[in-house]
Amino acid sequence: MPHERPEPQFKTIIEPFRIKSVEPIRYTTRAQRARALEAAGYNLFRLHASDVLIDLLTDSGTGAMSSEQWAAMMRGDESYAGSRSFDRFEAAVKGITGLKHIFPTHQGRAAERILCGVALKRGDVVPNNTHFDTTRANIEAVGAEALDLPIAEARQPEALHPFKGNLDVPALRALLTSRREQVPLVMLTVTNNSGGGQPVSLANVREVSAVCREFGVPLFLDCCRYAENAYFIKLREPGYAERTPREIAQEMFSYVDGATMSAKKDGMANIGGFLAMNDDVMAQAAQNLLILGEGFPTYGGLAGYDLDALAVGFQEALEEPYLQYRLRSIEYLGERLLQANIPIIQPTGGHAVYIDAGKLLPHLPAREYPAWALSCVLYLEGGVRSVEIGSVMFGRQPDGSERPAPLELVRLAFPRRTYTQSHVDYLAEVLLHVGSLRERVRGLRIVEAPPLLRHFTARLEPVEQSLLA
Ligand code: F0G
Repeated sequence: MPHERPEPQFKTIIEPFRIKSVEPIRYTTRAQRARALEAAGYNLFRLHASDVLIDLLTDSGTGAMSSEQWAAMMRGDESYAGSRSFDRFEAAVKGITGLKHIFPTHQGRAAERILCGVALKRGDVVPNNTHFDTTRANIEAVGAEALDLPIAEARQPEALHPFKGNLDVPALRALLTSRREQVPLVMLTVTNNSGGGQPVSLANVREVSAVCREFGVPLFLDCCRYAENAYFIKLREPGYAERTPREIAQEMFSYVDGATMSAKKDGMANIGGFLAMNDDVMAQAAQNLLILGEGFPTYGGLAGYDLDALAVGFQEALEEPYLQYRLRSIEYLGERLLQANIPIIQPTGGHAVYIDAGKLLPHLPAREYPAWALSCVLYLEGGVRSVEIGSVMFGRQPDGSERPAPLELVRLAFPRRTYTQSHVDYLAEVLLHVGSLRERVRGLRIVEAPPLLRHFTARLEPVEQSLLA
């Protein structure tokens, strides 16, 4: 028998893939970016992507697919009804969620819209750890109230809590005790995107589920980032270190009655989503709305090849080397920012770094949109596109009044399997540079905006002559 030597341990975490196809990115000058920004009404959503060097606007649908996903797309069965692609998609989703009825949708908000259409009525209340903006908008569009019930730590950017995405269970119990008949369902967003990409613990899912069952209210997961959430549980929750992300995800879904998903995140594909549920009556109503707005139940707004790409993607999202690389790149950027005293939500979340612009730019009041201003300056100086999660996104109330968002954040969301370590090092350099200009950053005002989801299309202008004094 040859002598067995121990496995050497190396500490560098590498990208767990090699690159087979590349897409060039385009350099611009600061003067070009200044012009592009002005033409876009100081709204990064309105920029041409070709004017962006590193695009961290969102991790939604922006990732790279694997060679196995591209291969699966060739197997796509475009039959209108009963396609084999749907069978593979459904098997993949059921294998992870265990839920009974699976409806493919073109993306997450379509699933939300159908769920709100079948389950809510005017005057209802839907609690969640924190609603994402489209979920909130879909709930409000039917005249119901979207209520955020995160734990207290979630509102404190620097509080170090392993599961800052948790829902406040006593608050949920109080709500159900006093207003049960107004609450048709409870939601839990994993990870909690608007709260910093923070995970929810299995203990919390279990407790929320127990309270929901006690009051007879169905619990739905908004499970866009279920794989990242599962990996955080493996890393942080006692008793789960030896379990696979897949086993953890399966346990998480075992506590819920349904789910909405934007598969543009942990589905690892560029488009897609689903609505899933156990209840047969609700499923029948959902199917009717699906046919009305999305398509026949075995494709629901997607091509057969999209369903096949997703069937593979759901599995790949749960692979540990991938999750380790993903969470570590984000954590690394967070460490670099903290070393330079740039305040961020701590600990870093699963898909993004969130800069606390309210704290970085204390000289700007909420009505001058500090996070929006910071995101514009990041683009101007370094060609980096981020997104504001602050008072432009959340400040306008359903009655038309303005209320500052609880936090003024700039989110740098990482597309999956898209950027490498040197991109992250470049980002750190840009952010440190912008951090050194912090006192010179000036605010903006809104020039025109629609009443709903205004951040996508609003036009703004600097309050003074320019963004930097
Ligand atoms: N729920 C959460 C938690 C999300 O993050 C998103 C989308 C949705 C629902 C809606 O899904 O876009 O497929 O319709 N989030 C993207 C983002 C847009 O940038 O965070 P969708």
